[in-house]
Amino acid sequence: MNPTLEKIARKAGDLLKKARLEGPGWIDQKGLNDFVTETDKACENLIQAELAHDFPGIPLMSEEGAGEATGREGAFFLVDPLDGTNNFVHGIPIYCICIGFVENGRPVRGVVYDPIHEEMYSAEDGKGALLNGSPIHTSEQTSLEGAFLATGFPFKEMGRLDLYTRGFKRVVLGSGGLRRCGSAALDMCWTAAGRFDGFWELGLKPWDMAAGSAILREAGGSVTDPAGGEGFLFGGDIVAAATVALNAELRAALNGENRS
Ligand code: IPD
Ligand code: CA
Repeated sequence: MNPTLEKIARKAGDLLKKARLEGPGWIDQKGLNDFVTETDKACENLIQAELAHDFPGIPLMSEEGAGEATGREGAFFLVDPLDGTNNFVHGIPIYCICIGFVENGRPVRGVVYDPIHEEMYSAEDGKGALLNGSPIHTSEQTSLEGAFLATGFPFKEMGRLDLYTRGFKRVVLGSGGLRRCGSAALDMCWTAAGRFDGFWELGLKPWDMAAGSAILREAGGSVTDPAGGEGFLFGGDIVAAATVALNAELRAALNGENRS
């Protein structure tokens, strides 16, 4: 399945490369600080048509509304046709296409394609994670001290900003460095590749996380909700780290234990 998903992601990536030169087309505001462009829709339409052709009968859930999968049971594709729309609109070259595959609530495979840097991340349950066909692994970082981390702000849920900033402050004080790059999927893939040691964000959507979390887990990472459980995909809050030990330290800092 993965080679076919990669082929589809590359085709959608060609649309993003073209739009980088010609512009995103129309731009609509879906909600607070939340945008969709003509290019998001064009990528989604392409991915939907290709998946329906290559994998008939497998339901699809996708950010911009394509597909019929609404529940969490069974097997379905979980797609973000453009993760990092705000970067894309502003000409910041950090965005990607995400095609995840979920079975019984668990992301079991995924491809994430960054068309600007021509990086194709992919993973399949039990078979490891690849970047452009070569195996990747998370870093060996086990402690928060010295860890180089990525995050995203809860800009669609301002009511949670205080909770977020309390945890943010503890992580800033305890870690080795922080970045906010604007694509949760690439934050996870870059952690899978050992570039970051970990990532956390509150209030994500399942399509932001499905493919990237499958890739990060297959690269050896520990991906949980803030309580250390499995509820991140539909709960929206995620803590992802290179190792189980760092995941625990990051959660402790975010939850206010041991650090002031
Ligand atoms: C967004 C990006 C961003 C994250 C947001 C997401 P979108 O996805 O992943 O990094 O902070 O929460 O919504 O809307 O560009 O697909
Ligand atoms: Ca998107």
